[in-house]
Amino acid sequence: PRPILLTRHGQSRDNVRGRIGGDPVISEAGELYSKKLANFVEKRLKSERTASIWTSTLQRTILTASPIVGFPKIQWRALDEINAGVCDGMTYEEIKKNMPEEYESRKKDKLRYRYPRGESYLDVIQRLEPVIIELERQRSPVVVISHQAVLRALYAYFADRPLKEIPHIEMPLHTIIEIQMGVTGVQEKRYKLMD
Ligand code: G3H
Repeated sequence: PRPILLTRHGQSRDNVRGRIGGDPVISEAGELYSKKLANFVEKRLKSERTASIWTSTLQRTILTASPIVGFPKIQWRALDEINAGVCDGMTYEEIKKNMPEEYESRKKDKLRYRYPRGESYLDVIQRLEPVIIELERQRSPVVVISHQAVLRALYAYFADRPLKEIPHIEMPLHTIIEIQMGVTGVQEKRYKLMD
C-alpha cells in the first residue's frame, strides 16, 4: 500500500491575524513547520522510488513545500482554498459585523452556503473530483499540501465521512494525516510535528 500524506500549509501571516483567503506568505512558525515537514517526508519516503508533492497555486502551500527536495512538485488550482468571494481578506468578526445576514446563513448551512461571488463547500467538493481521480490512480506516494476547507473535503472522501460533517471536521495546523489505502480498507495515522 502507498501512503497519501495530507497537510495544511504552515501557519500563514493571515492565520495569525484571523483573516480568511488572500495569498499571504507563511509566518516564522510556518517556516519552522516547512522544515520539519521536509525532514519528515525525507525520512518517511526514503525507501520509495518515486513520490510527488502536490500543492495549491497559493504562496502559503508553495512556500511550505519549498524545503522538500528530490521529488517533483505539481501545483493544482483545484487545491486552492475555498474562494470567500466578497469576504476574501476579512476576519470572521468583520463578516459578522458588516454582513450579518451572510454570517447567519453560513452558520445555518455551512455545507451549502456560497460566499457572494465565491464558493460553497459543495463547490469545493465538486472541483476536487479530478484531484481525487488522479490520487486514486497514482501508484507512488503523494504529499498533498493544501488548505483547511479543501483538506476537510479530501479527508472526508478517504475516511468515508458523511457530507454534512465536512465543514466541521477538525483539520489542525502543523499536523500530517497519513492515509494508507490497502485491500482491507483505509488506515490513518496522525503526526503532530509542532503546535
Ligand atoms: O479561509 C477559509 C478557511 O480555512 C475555511 O474555514 O470554512 O471553517 O470558515 P471555515
